[in-house]
Amino acid sequence: MSQRKFFVTTALPYANGNFHIGHIMEYIQADIWVRFQRMQGHAVDFVGADDAHGAPIMIAAEKAGKTPQQFVADIAAGRKPYLDGFHIAFDNWHSTDAPENHVLAQQIYLDLKAAGLIETRTIEQFFDPDKNMFLPDRFIKGECPRCHTKDQYGDNCESCGAVYAPTELIQPYSALSGAKPVLKQSEHFFFKLSDPRCVSFLEQWTQDGQHVQPEVANKVKEWFTVRTNPDGSTSEGLGDWDISRDAPYFGIEIPDAPGKYFYVWLDAPVGYLASLKNLLDKRGEDYEAYMADPSLEQYHFIGKDIVTFHTLFWPAMLKFSGRKTPDRICVHGFLTVNNGEKMSKSRGTGLDPLKYLGLGMNPEWLRYYLAAKLNGRNEDIDFNAEDFLARVNSDLVGKYVNIASRAAGFLSKRFGGKLGAISADGLQLVSHLTAQKDTLARLYDSRDYARAIREAMACADLVNVYVDANKPWELAKQEGQDERLQDVCSTCIEAFRLLTIYLKPVLPQLAAQVEAFLQVEPMTFADVDDLLGAGHAIGTYKHLIQRVEDKQLDALLAPPEPVPAAAAESAEPPGGEALAETITIDDFAKVDLRIARIVACAPVEGSTKLLRLTLDAGEGRTRNVFSGIASAYKPEDLQGKLTVLVANLAPRKMKFGISEGMVLAASHADEKQQPGIYVLEPWPGAQPGMRIH
Ligand code: 2FM
Ligand code: ZN
Repeated sequence: MSQRKFFVTTALPYANGNFHIGHIMEYIQADIWVRFQRMQGHAVDFVGADDAHGAPIMIAAEKAGKTPQQFVADIAAGRKPYLDGFHIAFDNWHSTDAPENHVLAQQIYLDLKAAGLIETRTIEQFFDPDKNMFLPDRFIKGECPRCHTKDQYGDNCESCGAVYAPTELIQPYSALSGAKPVLKQSEHFFFKLSDPRCVSFLEQWTQDGQHVQPEVANKVKEWFTVRTNPDGSTSEGLGDWDISRDAPYFGIEIPDAPGKYFYVWLDAPVGYLASLKNLLDKRGEDYEAYMADPSLEQYHFIGKDIVTFHTLFWPAMLKFSGRKTPDRICVHGFLTVNNGEKMSKSRGTGLDPLKYLGLGMNPEWLRYYLAAKLNGRNEDIDFNAEDFLARVNSDLVGKYVNIASRAAGFLSKRFGGKLGAISADGLQLVSHLTAQKDTLARLYDSRDYARAIREAMACADLVNVYVDANKPWELAKQEGQDERLQDVCSTCIEAFRLLTIYLKPVLPQLAAQVEAFLQVEPMTFADVDDLLGAGHAIGTYKHLIQRVEDKQLDALLAPPEPVPAAAAESAEPPGGEALAETITIDDFAKVDLRIARIVACAPVEGSTKLLRLTLDAGEGRTRNVFSGIASAYKPEDLQGKLTVLVANLAPRKMKFGISEGMVLAASHADEKQQPGIYVLEPWPGAQPGMRIH
């Protein structure tokens, strides 16, 4: 097979927060693919970077009292423990604010301009007279023009889902200063995506079956016929793309346009190239020559929320600036936790990657689990605690790792660690495993890791059937069975080695431990065709991997410990605890409090603290919520009453089941000083489902 050459990226994360599990899932997906391609003997450069620019980051930096540069540098400094911790081996990590990106973005823009694809138009936008800046949609708030809910964002209403232009909001105000925004004209730069050249190129590029998954192509197809405007109306065909923002903006200046910056999404994907260029510079290689190699294949791994940018704007920018276009956009779905909320960029709650590592949980458990769920299609996957436990303990440890532990001891103790000759039945088993090589390779290449893992586990099942049929532990006790014992154990070790190769893209660390134990060089897919052979000496078997414990998952999914409020300096603080930090109205609005009726209430067997509440919050279903109020209420005290439910709290797995929210109750911080728990009850008239504002 001839060597292929890949340039692979994952989406560049905004530099305004730490990684959450959704990022880690994407990186693991790409890392597995990269490691697989390398095991096939292909050359891969795998790069990432921080997406540094844009108004939200500029504003967050200001709030933190830092320059945007310092702010993003501090975020970047926190990336390593995540990447190293989950064995995600980027060859380079860079920033879209790096000099390479400024130069490349400006060059691409100038090339697009030379191609006649940039035009300017005067648009009218809201301007904050206090802050002296144009306001991005997300920073304008006001009353929804449709349902009249207050404090809705400038682009859509979270209450009724209406989509509108910021100018339609009733009594708009700036989320930055509270000032009433004024409409002001500004000249903006547009990339003419509606140009027939762009349209025909993109139609062909997205629909030729080569560049995106079929389900993504179908979605994109709709955008060629109809698009949704900011005010919710629709127009025909692709619209032009507004690529400029006015100062003050943290971004890259547009050449010959003082006070104008590229919109963050213009220079973000250019960051892929900038990170690559930075890597090549460090290696002393020429970027232009690298990109000009016709055999180079460019792959971008992304989430389903940023498909437009990667299947329309980005390929068109590259094509019409005379550059290489991507070979494939690999789109994945979102990750949910215990069927709970979406692990989105803005709400990365539920499963904190650093907490996972901090609990001593093995990163390869997660890699294995995610691999077992990822099928290469644009589908959401769910992290389910029970499923995780079963797959790791029963499959990874129980089926695969156990093969080595069942065979290695006998070889060490009885045969000096040497493998013996394998007889026909063993050879048949081993050949069956060898014959799966092309299937496994095809599945990894197409990112159907779920099937790859299934195939590997089906092989592991066969090996375990063989072990159970031959019972080495009994052979070891029988006279004259030495040769057969060595034969059976050698078969197991050969099979274990093949399985390890098949799982190595997913389990790089475990594979390295196995290579040390088997006393072999780092293994590639080509090594499947050879066996260790009789006479090969293996090392001493050391325990390879632990099982997951229930309590680790409980701790992982438990909500974070509250940060103790700073004690007030002088007098006794109210209720025994100092007031928490000041929050904005936006912070408060994140908590969705609803009136709920306690339709049933019961004690929880095995717990003296908890009551199990069945709540009706007007959703057409009931919720199960555990509450630590058993010391204060008898179940019959509460049945039928109304109370207040934190309705958008991530579901929490507890020993007794899943708790889907929390009811509000008051108590003194020091229970001993002032005992008593008081559940909140609304005034008469409130109905289940009503929101508390
Ligand atoms: O959606 C996001 O998180 C963006 N920061 C992704 C950018 S991907 C690429 F274009 F840089
Ligand atoms: Zn509304």
